[in-house]
Amino acid sequence: MVAPGKGILAADESIGTMSSRLEKAGVEPTAENRRAYRELLTSTPNLAEGVSGIIFCDETLHQQFADGRPFAEAVRALGILPGIKVDTGAKACPGLLGEKITEGLDGLPDRLVHYAELGAAFAKWRAVIAITDTLPSEAGIRANAHALARYAAACQEAGIVPIVEPEVLMDGGHSLSRCAEVTATVHAAVFAELAAFSVDPAGIVLKPNMVIEGAGHSEQSSAEQVAEATVEVLRALPDELAGVAFLSGGQSPQRATANLASMQGLRTPWPLTFSFGRALVDPALAAWAGDPGRVAEGQAALAERVAANAAAVRRRAEL
Ligand code: 13P
Repeated sequence: MVAPGKGILAADESIGTMSSRLEKAGVEPTAENRRAYRELLTSTPNLAEGVSGIIFCDETLHQQFADGRPFAEAVRALGILPGIKVDTGAKACPGLLGEKITEGLDGLPDRLVHYAELGAAFAKWRAVIAITDTLPSEAGIRANAHALARYAAACQEAGIVPIVEPEVLMDGGHSLSRCAEVTATVHAAVFAELAAFSVDPAGIVLKPNMVIEGAGHSEQSSAEQVAEATVEVLRALPDELAGVAFLSGGQSPQRATANLASMQGLRTPWPLTFSFGRALVDPALAAWAGDPGRVAEGQAALAERVAANAAAVRRRAEL
């Protein structure tokens, strides 16, 4: 999953999120169009040169390529690991106004057995933390950290590698230093809970946000500033962690890549790679736009972003 020079493709939007992205691109949001779009992404020529794993949602893992092979089987044949998003979404948290808690723990051990049978090698769970002048609260952080740790422990018991994703959102006008402070607090809570649930850090991939100013902040930080602030926060993590694979969080594809490239110059005990969703797939969706005659254009757009990000992480070996 964190093989040198490669990253992870997040193609696991829920049915609702994927449907609204398809509609925005002018594509009818049917199960078949969601399937065709995921097949387009997955069958991009030479994808395995820059992608070690692809995260799918439940719907896709139960679907097949046009030639009848289930997605997990088709992906493994390419030399890529199939993964599965197992949370059921971030919902308003009772008692914590303005904060969310990610659901999906009920029945999780049984679902993991099912996903392993379908061929999933790894899983993902995303916790969402918003920044305002007064949030996040300690209780909101603790609740999400607890859920992430129970999820990760269940994955390790099922022989599935957990991606642990505590996302501090870019929404809002906050500064980079406020993001750093919140991200550090969230990581401390998450790793305390992981330890409490006996999760082996050597068997998890952390999927954090980059430390970056809010989208509504007056000034945009440079790639060097983002890289330094991010690695500074990550230094608190255990050395044994298998790897760090960032989400893109709404950054432009170019900015996410530049920030990732800048980080490679800073020494860390774990590889720093990408597990981007939007920063990899948005250009592909726009280029395809649901037109069966434009599959090659969609794939070329994805290949271009994968190559740029793979080149960014390969800088590490060169520096
Ligand atoms: P973005 O890169 O679009 O933030 O998505 C990554 C992801 O998997 C969110 O859970």
